Amino acid sequence: MADKKEIVLSGIRSTGNLHLGNYYGALSKFVRMQDDYDCNFFIADLHALTTNPDPRELHANVKNILAEYLAAGIDPEKSTIFIQSDVPEIAEMYLLLNMHVGIGELMRTASFKDKARKALGIGVPAQGDDDEAFEKEIIGAATNKRVNAGLLTYPTLMAVDILIQKAHKVPVGKDQEQHLELTRRFARRFNSFYGVELFPEPANFDFGGKPVKVPGLDGSGKMGKSEGNCLYLIDDEKTLRKKVMRAVTDEGPKEPNSPVSQPVQNLFDLMELTSAPDVVQHFKDAYADCSIRYGDLKKQLAEDILKVTLPIRERILDIRNDDAYIGRVLRRGAEEAREPASRFPQALWNCWWRFPFLSRFGGSILQIPPPPSLREPHGYTCPRPYGSSPLLFFPPYRGF
Ligand code: TRP
Repeated sequence: MADKKEIVLSGIRSTGNLHLGNYYGALSKFVRMQDDYDCNFFIADLHALTTNPDPRELHANVKNILAEYLAAGIDPEKSTIFIQSDVPEIAEMYLLLNMHVGIGELMRTASFKDKARKALGIGVPAQGDDDEAFEKEIIGAATNKRVNAGLLTYPTLMAVDILIQKAHKVPVGKDQEQHLELTRRFARRFNSFYGVELFPEPANFDFGGKPVKVPGLDGSGKMGKSEGNCLYLIDDEKTLRKKVMRAVTDEGPKEPNSPVSQPVQNLFDLMELTSAPDVVQHFKDAYADCSIRYGDLKKQLAEDILKVTLPIRERILDIRNDDAYIGRVLRRGAEEAREPASRFPQALWNCWWRFPFLSRFGGSILQIPPPPSLREPHGYTCPRPYGSSPLLFFPPYRGF
């Protein structure tokens, strides 16, 4: 037991390409964890469906993210890399776990409110959150827009991703902390309802030190797909330079040692991530003595970012062209991910035949064998090989 590595799991939704924020916030951390943990990294293509992407883009998006994972240094020899829909047990357990989840607790999650409001085209009320008014708008929305039920049950699906692999550590950003908290709650609830110790409670993974902040180029907050302020790993030289040169700044310091405005601080923050310490210091000194020229700073910043992203871009393009390699990685990943996942249906049946009443009084300790009818629930276990999920046949056929 002593040398058994802890299980790490994390995923990224397949909606568009990965950007510098994903790289520093997630991918580079994933890469560093590979030697010390039993790592599982997946592409959350079912979660991507909660925002109804264009069906024609589904598979291309999955393929792009996979190529980006690999190009950034996630190594299929060390980690399990898989696609969520390649593990059909996830969809099954999602159905089961939903029976133990309250719609109230789902409706109260911040990300649901945010996305539901976006879907309905309503803003955040000026005087803070009003749950009652929000509910009314969702249930009785006068518009012909709707909030899809998958969006509501997003946290159940995420909990299943984590629990089905029995993950101990889940490296995710602050915005996912609430989902992780729900996962822990669902795990406890499930375990205690059936009187079993099936699911461990997962913890966020923290490298220590100060959290990485990757700001966008528009002078506001963090880099994000929906903010439209991103530098993508796949951006070519010209595009990336252009974006950096257009980044928002200010009129420049008027007197020595002036405070730094947010947009300029953002550029310094990006520089801290990508440039050498003496380069950063040079520009900070230039700011302090008012000799700074933002044009020079941006040129240098673009140069240093390109040093990080261009080699990754080259690898992404190579990998995207190699369907045979992608197929090999995915088949292997699916097999590895399904190994623990496929034990769950049986484990669940084993819990279920015991009445909750019995288990509270020690039913689970008595280890009574399940009745024959439940030992093999269907009498026949469908082997369901890799590539048999109906989701793979969504248009256009995935083909890798
Ligand atoms: N919800 C996560 C995000 O938007 C993606 C995700 C889905 C995930 N399932 C997960 C992350 C399981 C970690 C573990 O970023």
